Formats: sequence, C-alpha cells, structure tokens
Amino acid sequence: MFQLEPLSSVDNDKNNKTESYQQLLEQVKSLTQSEPNIIANLANISSLLFWQLTDINWAGFYLNEGNQLVLGPFQGKPACIRIPVGKGVCGVAAATGEVQRVANVHHFTGHIACDANTNSEIVLPLKKQGQVKAVLDIDSPVFDRFDEQDQEGLLAIVSYIESLI
Ligand code: SME
Repeated sequence: MFQLEPLSSVDNDKNNKTESYQQLLEQVKSLTQSEPNIIANLANISSLLFWQLTDINWAGFYLNEGNQLVLGPFQGKPACIRIPVGKGVCGVAAATGEVQRVANVHHFTGHIACDANTNSEIVLPLKKQGQVKAVLDIDSPVFDRFDEQDQEGLLAIVSYIESLI
C-alpha cells in the first residue's frame, strides 16, 4: 500500500522547495510505475498533487480529443467538462504547447472560472511526438501561488507523466 509521506519541506525556502519537488517526483514514480492503466495513474497523480502541494483547490488533467479538451482525472470541485482548444488558460496551453503560469486569473482574457475561489493557476501541456495529448491544470485560491521553481518542479513531473501516456 502506498503511504502518503509528508514532503520534508513544502515552504518558501528555495532549496527546500526544489528538494520537495524531487521527493514529489519520487512519490509520483513509486505510485505509478507498476501500473499500466493511464486513467488509474492520472487519477492517483492528481490526488497526490492535490494533497501534497499547499494552497491548492483543484489539480487534474484535461485530455485532448480532437479540438476539445475533455475533463480527465482530477481532485477538487466539479469542473467544466469540455474546453475548446484555444479557450481559457487550459485551451491556450493546449493550442500553444507552452506552460501558462497565471498570477491573477481575473486578468487573463477568456479565463474559465470553474471554481470562484481560484485566483492563480498553472497549466502544463503533456506532449507525445510534439503533439499536446493532455494538460495538467493546478489552481490556487492564493494570488501568484506558482513561481519559477514550481514550474520547474512540475515540468519534471510532467516529463515523467509523458513517458506513461
Ligand atoms: N480555469 C481553467 C478551466 C479549468 S478549471 O479551472 C478546472 C481555464 O481557464 O482553462
């Protein structure tokens, strides 16, 4: 049985934050490496991110199907089911293939408010052979919750998830 060990130091200390993300990546690996089912793995990864990161109100995946993002495994309040590629923060991440790190979602044109408590957001595309197959979306009630280090740590996790899909 997987044990949800607390990360050593989820705080604002820069070195500790890097270390926390390394531990989080190890937890993601140990939770998924012996299971081939992608839905099961994405479900557990969304749970791990939701419970291990601080100040998070939603963490999950949207899967790219045609020209739409369809809601995948997540933790948090019920969310929009289909998002057109190009719309909202998730849709822009899928359309451009680039990470969207938004300090204040209320200033992002076209932001889709699934949970009124969300104030900042990071969306990372998951690619296979250059194509965006899914996005990882993490939302926070705290303004400017995600910094460069969060982006780097999450990119390492996304890169591992890309090897699973
Ligand atoms: N806020 C996102 C929509 C997804 S939910 O937040 C879960 C967006 O603008 O794409």
